[in-house]
Amino acid sequence: MKTVEWLCIYFPLTLIAVHTLIRIIRYFYPFPMPHFMAALIDHPVRRRLIQPPDETAVRHGIQPGMTVLEVGPGSGTYTAAAARRVGVGGQLVAIDIEPRMIERVQFKAEREGLTNIHAEVGDVYQLNYPENHFDLCFMITVISEIPEPVRAMQEIKRVLKPGGIISFSELFLDPDYPLARTVTRWADEAGFKYKQKFGNWFCYTLIFEK
Ligand SMILES: C[S@@+](CC[C@H](N)C(=O)[O-])C[C@H]1O[C@@H](n2cnc3c(N)ncnc32)[C@H](O)[C@@H]1O
Repeated sequence: MKTVEWLCIYFPLTLIAVHTLIRIIRYFYPFPMPHFMAALIDHPVRRRLIQPPDETAVRHGIQPGMTVLEVGPGSGTYTAAAARRVGVGGQLVAIDIEPRMIERVQFKAEREGLTNIHAEVGDVYQLNYPENHFDLCFMITVISEIPEPVRAMQEIKRVLKPGGIISFSELFLDPDYPLARTVTRWADEAGFKYKQKFGNWFCYTLIFEK
């Protein structure tokens, strides 16, 4: 009885309390996710049941042959699937502000023999690429971690080709979770056109066009 009580009442309540506390702290002190937390979010439950990488790559509008930018890959949970989807005729560039995250992405790319991944340390506010370079940019549970999301989107818009796509996936379990209408407002302010939404309130993907 005690175990059932713990599982049904105390465990969910503890999770909600910790989640709320982290949200409050991060609201006042925004900072990039520390690299040691990468394993926590690169979780099999997330990969299998909530945001499967192959399905997520398709949802984000990634097509074979595209030149794609992933901002904030973390430990690369979604990078390999996106690279497999663009195929040998395409390229996947992953940039992250945290060098240890990039090391993890490079390690995974080598382990899986994916030669079309280029991972480098970089800041979304200042992308080291020319104008009109990428077909698509995607960010998964990243945009609300960035203190100036509209500025970040404007910089991404610069490197996207005309008609290029920017896509975001968000998950309620993330302490930085933003409402879909908030991300839509940021994208609108950055000059993107709304295209499509998939998913539900708990876990959604939004697609916008340059
Ligand atoms: C919550 S993690 C998400 C990782 C991965 N996309 C996922 O869903 O598993 C957010 C990532 O964004 C990166 N990040 C935060 N601010 C950034 C910035 N200004 N430029 C580039 N990457 C940034 C962090 O270092 C971290 O790896």
